[in-house]
Amino acid sequence: MSLSQSPAWQRFRAAALSADRNGSELRIIDAPGLRLDLSAQAGSDELREAGAALLAQQDFDAARAALFDGGPANWTEQRPAWHTALRSPEPPAMVARAVLGERERLRQFVREADAAGRYRCVLHLGIGGSDWGPRLVTRALRHEGLRREVRFASNVDSHAVADAMSRLDPHDTLVIVASKSFTTTEPLANAEVAMNWLREAGVADPVRQVVAITANVEAALDLGISPDRIFQMWDWVGGRYSLWSAIGLPIALALGADTFDRLLAGAAAMDEHFRHAPLAANAPAQMALAGVANRSVLGYDSLVIAPYDSRLYHIVPWAQQLEMESLGKVATRDGSPCGVPTGPAVWGMSGTDCQHTFFQWLHQDAAGAPVDFILCEQPDHAYACHHELLIANCLAQRAALLRGKTYEEALAETSAVESDPARARLLARHRVHPGGRPSSLIVLPRLDAYTLGALLALYEHKVFTQGVLWGINPFDQWGVEFGKTLAKNIIKELDACAPQAPSQDPSTRYWIDAIARRG
Ligand code: F6P
Repeated sequence: MSLSQSPAWQRFRAAALSADRNGSELRIIDAPGLRLDLSAQAGSDELREAGAALLAQQDFDAARAALFDGGPANWTEQRPAWHTALRSPEPPAMVARAVLGERERLRQFVREADAAGRYRCVLHLGIGGSDWGPRLVTRALRHEGLRREVRFASNVDSHAVADAMSRLDPHDTLVIVASKSFTTTEPLANAEVAMNWLREAGVADPVRQVVAITANVEAALDLGISPDRIFQMWDWVGGRYSLWSAIGLPIALALGADTFDRLLAGAAAMDEHFRHAPLAANAPAQMALAGVANRSVLGYDSLVIAPYDSRLYHIVPWAQQLEMESLGKVATRDGSPCGVPTGPAVWGMSGTDCQHTFFQWLHQDAAGAPVDFILCEQPDHAYACHHELLIANCLAQRAALLRGKTYEEALAETSAVESDPARARLLARHRVHPGGRPSSLIVLPRLDAYTLGALLALYEHKVFTQGVLWGINPFDQWGVEFGKTLAKNIIKELDACAPQAPSQDPSTRYWIDAIARRG
């Protein structure tokens, strides 16, 4: 039986459609490092009970236990998805030695570099899950004091790595090549540029200034990187969930090993909350149910993430990969399609910039989109009045989306300034806000390593729970392979002498020929 035909789904769907959407009930969940306010999501006792029944039908408890115990949570690749082991103070026995060993190697490397005053700068070369997490965290926690400058280059267009290297001292820069597979085109191409940069600058032993972070140690050795400069990760952690592994090395180099430990501690605390909190008070699970109601029942195609703190600017692309690479699929365990809409398109921007960019659409487009607002209570700067402006705008936008503005309210406004009644009525039509637009508010007491770790783990477990609800695998990404294969074929054809593949569509054929001819 498909999900959409199951009794639990039918009950959940009916409850979501009839639930209260005017925010009349205060619904705040306390979790480690943060508070989650779901008051502006569709809510009712029946919806809460139907959500619990749906999770039960989807064997959520067993799936969650398997996630923490190293079961085949990634069931198309028959692997664990054991990112929780990476941050546990006591990792499961099966992987404890490997996890604690690499964690200590990372700490020791950073301590030695700190003691020797080595590497004033770090050039981090990774992409996707080997880039967004470190990029997000080093930017978000910069206010805690940077010990080194970390530059990131991910795109293969070479402008990215050139920009990242500009004005760096090659003699005082550590190059990190971060790639779980060590076969991804971009980091390897950028590594070639960076190693040439070191050589051309006369660095005595360039390869000694290069570190690799990978699950493919052999490939790193083949690149000439010495074993003591290779930090290992494993294929039982997905790339977009690997921030907690040695992929976090640039975080520790930039902010200190203790800060990286606090990041892990925050995520581990959220793990315990997710594992043991009763369902009604389980932040990731309740956030997941609200998201499934919005996407699969209430018809919202996307999800907006609006961190009202410019330090969290990169949480948007980090969440885009986490959510869309995990949930942008339809095939279930037996290969049949899920039958209801699954992973939303995720987009967003820091607030208040987002208000001056796309909030018009959120308020008055026919559909709109749910919004995750993220707010830090303490400013971590001296301008308390500016922080009040930020908080006021965040709360006001949520309230406006929820409450809306009726035609009668709009007419009262326009009649006060327009003497012509017909024109006042016309203008009022343009000022109506539908309202009833869902949002969540995540409030951190302040932005620090612990609260940030908890926040990122909240999203990871929300995504996992939505995968369970939809019956899809949040830990594989078959959809990214096809384009890579076609790219390899086109690269060959761009060599003007290469034989032309007949299979290209007319446009692709035209541009390959045009560019190949340009030579
Ligand atoms: O985008 C596809 C993907 O495989 C991601 O899942 C991954 O995070 C990224 O490419 C980089 O992969 P790797 O760390 O193996 O270079």
